[in-house]
Amino acid sequence: MRYKNKMEENKIEEESIEADAQDIEEEVIKVEASQEIMKKAGIEDLPGVGAATAQKLQEAGFSDLMAVAVASPGEVVEATGISEQVARKMINAARSGLQMGFESGEDLLKRRERVQKISTSSAAFDELLGGGFETSAIVECFGEFGSGKTQIGHLLAVNCQKDDPTAVAIYIDTENTFRPERIIQFAKGAGMDSQKVLANIKVAKAYNSDNQMLLAEKVDDMIKKDGHNVRVVIIDSLTAHFRAEFIGRGTLAERQQKLNKHMHVLLKLADTHNVCIYVTNQVMAKPDVFFGDPTQAIGGHIVAHASTFRIYLRKGKKGSRVAKLIDSPNLADGECNFFVEEGGLKDVK
Ligand code: GTP
Ligand code: MG
Repeated sequence: MRYKNKMEENKIEEESIEADAQDIEEEVIKVEASQEIMKKAGIEDLPGVGAATAQKLQEAGFSDLMAVAVASPGEVVEATGISEQVARKMINAARSGLQMGFESGEDLLKRRERVQKISTSSAAFDELLGGGFETSAIVECFGEFGSGKTQIGHLLAVNCQKDDPTAVAIYIDTENTFRPERIIQFAKGAGMDSQKVLANIKVAKAYNSDNQMLLAEKVDDMIKKDGHNVRVVIIDSLTAHFRAEFIGRGTLAERQQKLNKHMHVLLKLADTHNVCIYVTNQVMAKPDVFFGDPTQAIGGHIVAHASTFRIYLRKGKKGSRVAKLIDSPNLADGECNFFVEEGGLKDVK
């Protein structure tokens, strides 16, 4: 009797599994069909997006499904004024429509092949970085005043043009330290036509953190709409405005949130356009550290995490500078010495 019951139970279970499998299959067919539609879709095809919302999204830079898919609900709410629930639905629809997800290792290797290395003109520094500053990456240099962060920014703006006369450098200057005279010196040091080099450097001053964020967002248009062959974007300094504007413990969360958003824009820029993003960062004193280096980079883990390479710069012996590679996805940590000279960086003999 008990045995018979067991048989029946099994049968019922088998049937329900079969029914589930059929449901799942139908669901897959539905999803695939909607993905087919979404491939051709724009933001106006998302749920909850009428003409007015579509326009607001466009104006805020959410011009395609990808932009919506990678946004946070908060960003969409801010841009459109719709409720958070609708924003969530919209983002989820964009995500499932885009089949976001995985790439094969082979595809990634192919993408890595387009990566270029920008030379620092110091053989030791280049070697530390596996050939130079990489494109498709964010490289952060942090260190005390006078450690050479700004000099390196100028140098990259020049050297990215060495092998490619159409290459453009974008310099977002937050501390009013960009000097065209210095560009001329570095260009001459590298045997390049200084006027041409200067012409291919687009400089913008950022007067506050909002301004800085907006300028970074504009770079995408400069590449897509204006057709500039941007190889390097320099943000000098990344954190100074944020540090000055958000003072006190109570504002820390807001500062980190904005910084996080900024870093995401930069990361996307690096990735989609094969650009080297060079950001500089100051250090602050850590009064509670008695051993090792008593300094710490501003911006905390948000900046550290988003950066692909991190370099700590400090003053060394006899006026030299020491660069220490702190964090890299594929290179050994290490140190090198060089001098900052009129025409470029020179190795310590
Ligand atoms: P902060 O922005 O103040 O945090 O510093 P930083 O890290 O940006 O320093 P920066 O890159 O401005 O380095 C300044 C140092 O570079 C100077 O103290 C000089 O040692 C060196 N330097 C700048 N210009 C020249 C130059 O024309 N010739 C030589 N030999 N050295 C220079
Ligand atoms: Mg500086």
